[in-house]
Amino acid sequence: MKKIILVMSIVLLVALVMWLIMQFNNGTGQSGKTEYQASNRDEEISIVDMDDLENQAAAVIPVGGMGYIQGGAETESTMRRNETAFDMVDIYPRVMTGVNEPDIKTSILGIDISLPVIAAPAAAHGLAHVSAEAGTARGVAVSGTIMSVSTYASSTLAQIAAAGAGAPQWFQLYLTKDDKANRQLIQNAQDLGYRAIILTVDAPVGGNRFRDVRNNFKFPLELPNVPRASGKTQGQGIGQIFAAAKNVLTPYDVMYVKSMTKLPVIVKGIMHPDDAEVAIVAGADAIWVSNHGGRQLDGGPAAFEVLEEVAQQVNKRVPIIFDSGIRRGQHIFKAIAMGADVVAIGRPVIYGLALGGWRGVVSVFDYLKQDLRRVMWLAGTQTVEEIKKVDLRPHCVTVQCGEI
Ligand SMILES: Cc1cc2nc3c(=O)[nH]c(=O)nc-3n(C[C@H](O)[C@H](O)[C@H](O)COP(=O)(O)O)c2cc1C
Repeated sequence: MKKIILVMSIVLLVALVMWLIMQFNNGTGQSGKTEYQASNRDEEISIVDMDDLENQAAAVIPVGGMGYIQGGAETESTMRRNETAFDMVDIYPRVMTGVNEPDIKTSILGIDISLPVIAAPAAAHGLAHVSAEAGTARGVAVSGTIMSVSTYASSTLAQIAAAGAGAPQWFQLYLTKDDKANRQLIQNAQDLGYRAIILTVDAPVGGNRFRDVRNNFKFPLELPNVPRASGKTQGQGIGQIFAAAKNVLTPYDVMYVKSMTKLPVIVKGIMHPDDAEVAIVAGADAIWVSNHGGRQLDGGPAAFEVLEEVAQQVNKRVPIIFDSGIRRGQHIFKAIAMGADVVAIGRPVIYGLALGGWRGVVSVFDYLKQDLRRVMWLAGTQTVEEIKKVDLRPHCVTVQCGEI
């Protein structure tokens, strides 16, 4: 009898220890914490170089969440290229141009914005800050630009709309396999005043993100807008969440979304001129050139490398939004000179949120406003329309002249 009690006690003890280890790790990639603890900072941040934010954010975002936000697919070669690709072209300094206080205001799809930069849709801002997308929306609204909201947001669409207080917001849709749920998602966004649907088409399956695999990353927080039929999202990995979404996409999906809404439909994740053509023929009201910040297909080109050829194909029939790697004024300038109408930023917004809450998001946009103005001044361009007429110069040192 004593032996049985001893064996049972040992089994129970082992089970208890295993349970505790699981609780401690809890998908956060951190040990020693039972709960995911995102930042609750509330302050302006001072930015010298946008790239500095990554290291600073790593100090306030738990390891698992940081790996998810920061990471790209596989060896991250495409992710790294996104930023360095801007060095393939140079901006001619222009002097004696009479330019004075360049005007960075512009508009996209009928919406006036204070700078040609908007917030890209990104999942789970709750990983970075307790205010989650509601905090981001407030900061983006104060900055006078557009907030894009992911289907995988960690605030509800209603909370985000309320925090934006009437400022322009777009809803990014990942189609589910359930027709009724798709209709409900779009209807809900429309009823709440979202002004466009972004249909993301570059993620029929999740990229292979080594950081998430190594951290055994699972979403520690619920993603409340994901249709309930897909089950509880808390505790799921990104692979499981993508698997529940629609993973066979065709041009009919653009038509299908168009048939469900009167809102403009933007097709996001275009990296090939032929795909831009297909999307436009299917009814896209705008094209979003992006490689998802290097998080999907590794071993592909930087988004900036394909922008010019996509823009030539689009030929101004619809506006072009561009993202992946934008960190400073010269990047914005070069993307617009290459054919974008506006650009979007993903990670910098999340880092700003982590480091200062909504005020940190405002600091990120303020930095870009100031930096873009300076670049425009030094390059002799008074307005965003003038940037579109600028010829960039091939950078002859690192690539053969005339290569791009
Ligand atoms: C943490 C994170 C989550 C993302 N989630 C989504 C998403 O839910 N839907 C989507 O269309 N794009 C998503 N993206 C991609 C962004 O919209 C954007 O394409 C990318 O971040 C741009 O690159 P950048 O981070 O270098 O600015 C996500 C990006 C990050 C960093």
